Amino acid sequence: MGENITRKIIGAHRLSGEMTPGSEIGLRIDQTLTQDATGTMACLQFEAVGLDRVQTELSVSYVDHNTLQMGFRNPDDHRYLRTMAARYGIVFSPPGTGICHQLHLENFARPGKTLIGSDSHTPTAGGVGSLAMGAGGLSVALAMAGEPYTISMPKVVRVQLTGRLSGWAAGKDVILELLRRLTVKGGVGKVFEFAGPGVASLTVPERATITNMGAELGATTSIFPSDERTREFFRIMGREDEWTELVADADAEYDETIEINLSDLEPLVAQPHMPDRVVPVRELAGLPVSQVAIGSCTNSSYADLKTTVQVLQGRRLPPETDLLVSPGSKQVLKMLAAEGLVEPLLDAGARLLECSCGPCIGMGGSPVSQGVSVRTFNRNFEGRSGTKDAQVYLASPQTAVNLALAGKFTDPAEWGAAPERVELPQTAPSIRHLFIFPPENGSDVEILRGPNIVPLEKFDALPEVIEAGVKLKVGDDITTDHILPAGAQITALRSNIPAISQYIFSRVDEQFVPRILEAGGGIILGGENYGQGSSREHAALGPRHLGVRAVIVKSLARIHRANLVNFGILPLLLVRPEDYDRLEQDSELRIRTAAIAPGATFEIEVSGAESVDVTNDLTEKELNIIKAGGLLNFVREASRA
Ligand code: F3S
Repeated sequence: MGENITRKIIGAHRLSGEMTPGSEIGLRIDQTLTQDATGTMACLQFEAVGLDRVQTELSVSYVDHNTLQMGFRNPDDHRYLRTMAARYGIVFSPPGTGICHQLHLENFARPGKTLIGSDSHTPTAGGVGSLAMGAGGLSVALAMAGEPYTISMPKVVRVQLTGRLSGWAAGKDVILELLRRLTVKGGVGKVFEFAGPGVASLTVPERATITNMGAELGATTSIFPSDERTREFFRIMGREDEWTELVADADAEYDETIEINLSDLEPLVAQPHMPDRVVPVRELAGLPVSQVAIGSCTNSSYADLKTTVQVLQGRRLPPETDLLVSPGSKQVLKMLAAEGLVEPLLDAGARLLECSCGPCIGMGGSPVSQGVSVRTFNRNFEGRSGTKDAQVYLASPQTAVNLALAGKFTDPAEWGAAPERVELPQTAPSIRHLFIFPPENGSDVEILRGPNIVPLEKFDALPEVIEAGVKLKVGDDITTDHILPAGAQITALRSNIPAISQYIFSRVDEQFVPRILEAGGGIILGGENYGQGSSREHAALGPRHLGVRAVIVKSLARIHRANLVNFGILPLLLVRPEDYDRLEQDSELRIRTAAIAPGATFEIEVSGAESVDVTNDLTEKELNIIKAGGLLNFVREASRA
């Protein structure tokens, strides 16, 4: 039987486990990436392991999230990351160089390699055939230390592409179509592997847009073959020697198949406040647009911005619509400048922002009150833009710029002829000299820490019995933005767990922190898909610091579940969803943890009421990690044994 690409890469990196869907497997990790928002903690965790140098083929530390340097905290973090990288053998990408995924795609991603990154959009590198997964910062720290990365063996879904994109349809519309069909839960436990005759028609940046936003499906990752188009991309990036072909065998088998005819696609848009609330753009014609933002790791490539300029060329934006443009990297900006494409952007009235995440993470660019913002990003959760009552829509650059010019949603039939799809120029300027490569031996490098960088606390082991109250009851689809809001003031505290913990659930219930601190700990009760959204591990670390020992939910998002395990919080699943209604905030619970077995159902005693049945989907190893008080304790204990 032939192999698909996913199984080929997993097979070549598997250190333990069986390759049957759902089995736990340990993978050797070739590359890691971190970004500053999660990376400072990952670096503190790597230091806590006590090794002299990273053990991966390549680890890169990017600064792209909190690039605003208002006050000492962010610059102190950047200096810590730079010196830490030099000390331990990590490549450092300074603030302003670009967005981690765009930079990694251009400079470091390689076909057939395994990559984990402390950012949920790490699958962007799947655009060139890397098996690239988002992970918690601690998992990345341990991969840097040479530990295997554990996942459950995914099902592989073949996304059979036929036809070719035409008119105003873009790569973004392929992934919006998948989100429309499958929803934000449709990819859990799956890898989306793209195949079929339509693949060859898609450029690498288009492929990367698609794999980037596969994260919104909840997928383990998404991946494209590495073919002649990929080779051409590597040649233009000046690293053809790093290219290898990687295609599925002709008789490869897949667990499921989905078909998309690219020729049938039209411009689509995701409506507030979920990436899967997708409708055709034409259906919203007439809705005024107050802001348009083009950029983010999803759509900030040279092709995305050149298309934007081609549509703007010689025209002026209406005064009521603000257009923000963030190039994905300095390479993108240099290519635009070389072709004289920056000037028309400025002349149209657009605002050119730094090469960073910027408005995507709420670093500037907030919309007006009740404003409608059309963004080329991957997420539109409520409040993420920095304006609580803003309505954020997600669309391709082609769509976004047309709406910016009209100042409202219009029918694509009125946009005139679409420009030709943009290909990369024959050569691209290198920005490799902007990365700071580590010395061969960094043992003399002094690591500089500011006062905001607080060493990690050592957490206790799980007690044999948890006796605690439900200190917060929340509904369905709680995101990590609900658990720990983003924004400059809060994320600047990311290396200071006691300080950042004060913001846990602060926008859901201001009394949560005082309540749980007064009780000396507690339990959180949640609905479906608890913890979806970004990979930020502070959404688990913060609650753990406050004394949360268990979350009881109807269902859990994948990366947040892993973060809960990593920090020693017990994730329990209600056997009967209706029991959610029987449990209240302040219900007093008794959980006998010593009795928990992997996958087994057991009873939780409820003071003054009937007990409820819960189950778990934990493996034996995960259970032992939680019992040890978290993964760092577990690894330290294992290395002592
Ligand atoms: Fe940055 Fe937004 Fe991507 S925060 S890494 S541009 S999802």
